[in-house]
Amino acid sequence: MSKNIVVAIDGYSSCGKSTLAKALAKKLHFIYVDSGAMYRAVTLYFLRNDTDLNNHDLIIDALQHIDLNFHSRDYQSHILLNGEEVSEEIRQMPVSENVSRISAIKEVRQAMVKQQQKMGKSKNMVMDGRDIGTVVFPHAQVKLFMTADPKIRAERRYKELIAKGEEVSLEEIFENLAHRDYQDTTREESPLTRAEDAIILDNTNLTEEEQLKFAIGKIEPFVVSH
Ligand code: DC
Repeated sequence: MSKNIVVAIDGYSSCGKSTLAKALAKKLHFIYVDSGAMYRAVTLYFLRNDTDLNNHDLIIDALQHIDLNFHSRDYQSHILLNGEEVSEEIRQMPVSENVSRISAIKEVRQAMVKQQQKMGKSKNMVMDGRDIGTVVFPHAQVKLFMTADPKIRAERRYKELIAKGEEVSLEEIFENLAHRDYQDTTREESPLTRAEDAIILDNTNLTEEEQLKFAIGKIEPFVVSH
């Protein structure tokens, strides 16, 4: 059998990476893995256990007590933290406000990357995140780097959270996104950056259908020859 196909999608926070990744997985019958959910679930574990987030030794030591698993349903990525589904809770503001500092810790990243690489060994897969095309799968057949106007991104995320009944303000979301972008692009360990061979997809003025069509066009040659 020829090698499995990996589609790596990286980009800034709330750029629609997961929306596109899910649509692609559904269309191509690939597996979808949301790597950000892993960093979020780890962060949730520490928040729940009142871990001092400044104490890196404590955090690194606690990693051994964290078991993460995915189960795929309808091309959505559901994450289990020590056996409990936490897909909803990891999207809430306390996690969003702390995840960037946790994901900047080298040992946390090493543990996540190892698990992600294992998942992408044998199955056709779409994975989204910040370092997928640069670190996790540098040989991915297709790499997309997504970006969009920060105001549009904040509005999209705001609508999403309000629809879920969360009490948030647009300003708070805008600040959080700007802060996460800053932390993600300036951290020492695997900062968010575009892989040289990644295709830029600015979706500020694109519909979800247009983005899907664009991405399918880039992936199809690999699927056909597969
Ligand atoms: O994609 P997301 O917003 O759910 O990701 C949450 C945080 O996790 C984000 O602020 C940066 C971090 N992250 C990362 O460092 N590397 C990844 N591959 C995915 C996410």
